[in-house]
Amino acid sequence: FGPKLLQGMSLLLTAGPTREAIDPVRYISNHSSGKMGFALAKAAAEMGAEVTLVAGPVNLATPNGVKRINVESAQDMLDAVMPQVEQHQIFIGCAAVADYRIAEVAESKIKKSAEQMQLALVRNPDILASVASHAHRPFTVGFAAETNDVEQYARGKLSRKKLDMIAANDVSNTDIGFNSDTNALSVFWSDGSTDLPAVDKDTLAKQLLTLIANKIKN
Ligand code: PMT
Repeated sequence: FGPKLLQGMSLLLTAGPTREAIDPVRYISNHSSGKMGFALAKAAAEMGAEVTLVAGPVNLATPNGVKRINVESAQDMLDAVMPQVEQHQIFIGCAAVADYRIAEVAESKIKKSAEQMQLALVRNPDILASVASHAHRPFTVGFAAETNDVEQYARGKLSRKKLDMIAANDVSNTDIGFNSDTNALSVFWSDGSTDLPAVDKDTLAKQLLTLIANKIKN
């Protein structure tokens, strides 16, 4: 893998889940372990890039040479990402960002009472779309976690969010994607696509970054 293919480039990426607080002791989140995003950060640093990794709450060591910023909620992630956008040539959104947050976070622990209760949710800002619409936008790559109609939904996100590339994984298959050590990607851009078959996330990260580097250079 042209080891220094990203020499002189700087890459910003997000990884892991976000946590949306319900009250001081509870939250809504998802099964993202951060492994895919951390593999991308590690591979990019090895390929010569300067790497800034904005990470949700995960139990992973920071790869060598990578600058890490820890965040919790989607809003925290947006606040950490946006001031950095201009200084980077590539952005990859690998985080599993919560689409919704609690409308009003309770100030004290919610007590058990009625048999049923409802939580009102409001939409979170879209970090990837915000980066892609920035005046000095980097080469912007999204991920798409889909359980069905993978190409149709991924291409929808590519055009709606105005991305340069999108890497889709089929998360209905529990052997790949969320929390596993392997993954497979179908990568789409405006006039092309390629499949990266199931392999360990470190190898897959190098393959995806090689694709990105070649696209930027051509
Ligand atoms: O962390 P692992 O356990 O290794 O698992 C890896 C993974 C399955 C989480 C990863 O490969 C992956 O698919 N990440 C994207 C998960 C996701 O939230 O997909 P989505 O289809 O819901 O979102 C589409 C894109 O928009 C993503 O790039 C996401 O980061 C971004 N997004 C979504 C919502 C939001 N409010 N802001 C965003 O930036």
